[in-house]
Amino acid sequence: MLTEILRKKGYRIFRDEPFIDREEEIEFLKEYFKETQRRILFIYGPKSTGKTTLIEYVIEKELNDKEYWINYLNLRETVLATYENFIYSFFEEAKDETETKLNRTYDLKIFKLEAKILKKIKERRINLFAELIRQFEKIDRKKLFIIDEIQVLEDIYINGEKELLKEFLNFCVRLTKETHLSHIVILTSNTIFLNRIYNDAKLKEISDFKLINHPGKEVIIKLLKDLGYNDSQIELAMDYYGTMISRFFKMYQYVKPEDNIEKLKDYLESEKLDAKMQIVEIFKRYKKYNLPKESKDIFLRMAKRLIKEDIRFEDLMEEEIGIVDVFCEKEILFFDPKTGIITPNSRIYLKAMEDMIKNNTG
Ligand SMILES: Nc1ncnc2c1ncn2[C@@H]1O[C@H](COP(=O)(O)OP(=O)(O)O)[C@@H](O)[C@H]1O
Ligand SMILES: [Mg+2]
Repeated sequence: MLTEILRKKGYRIFRDEPFIDREEEIEFLKEYFKETQRRILFIYGPKSTGKTTLIEYVIEKELNDKEYWINYLNLRETVLATYENFIYSFFEEAKDETETKLNRTYDLKIFKLEAKILKKIKERRINLFAELIRQFEKIDRKKLFIIDEIQVLEDIYINGEKELLKEFLNFCVRLTKETHLSHIVILTSNTIFLNRIYNDAKLKEISDFKLINHPGKEVIIKLLKDLGYNDSQIELAMDYYGTMISRFFKMYQYVKPEDNIEKLKDYLESEKLDAKMQIVEIFKRYKKYNLPKESKDIFLRMAKRLIKEDIRFEDLMEEEIGIVDVFCEKEILFFDPKTGIITPNSRIYLKAMEDMIKNNTG
């Protein structure tokens, strides 16, 4: 329904859904992949700004299969959490010897390995990443290795140690800076994680950081007009949602342009309540998050500033830092390591904070 309306209005459709805006980002990525592969590209930004959709669009629609060999791994989709599963996202046991020879000629995303080599990798007698590099060397096209939701790797232990992520990042350095074998793109919404990397001098030096933020206002105003909403509906909806694309698609399912404004208001209020509950949950369970009991008051004082303007990391007070970390981890706040600026992940959280401040004082 929504897709049909927008298709008729000339919107780009990707996987049966409208794909909006992002011209600048698409061009950026196409140009980036043309250059020699010497660096790691981190694509980051608040949750649900469209990072995953963007990269999937670019690799499916804009890059030529004959020119690029692309390996795309989304760690949120795979049932990971163990080292063994991680291995299977690259390798598979070959049924016989001829199958291992296919690795070079066929367009395999998962490499076929002899059972005995696979076993050695599992037992860590052969290094997983060394084997991956050997396989990469065989491929005669430009290579593009993309890993989404990388922070998942932090939770995987090998022999009781958290070294998989470290090994993986070393592997990225080898593939890019040292051997120029492959482009690497790493995606994440988790800026606490990203910040750790950003402050690692060795990695920072060879990495680029591309922020994918919510789109501009004009894009959303046009979208809502094209869907048939009037000016006051648009103004109201954007006051709650800012420019977070996916929220408006969901809104369209519940409140149609011909519905009255009260219905829209009720719907948006229920969305705000939901955002508020996510915040309240953290304070109710402050112990679970290792926060002090007074966190709520500290947070609300900070929220007052946040409503007026973005907060800079350097201006945070000591007692606020731990709270900001938890809220970033829960993807309610967003911290941009490049600029040091803290914003709400999306405007709905700001509305929730406004509400909490009002109820707290009056
Ligand atoms: N450019 C876009 N146009 C339309 N919908 C989009 C666009 N980008 C993202 N979306 C929608 O927003 C939602 C979140 O996008 P996603 O790519 O998963 O965000 P992220 O990876 O940044 O968390 C998805 O449902 C997706 O369909
Ligand atoms: Mg994503």
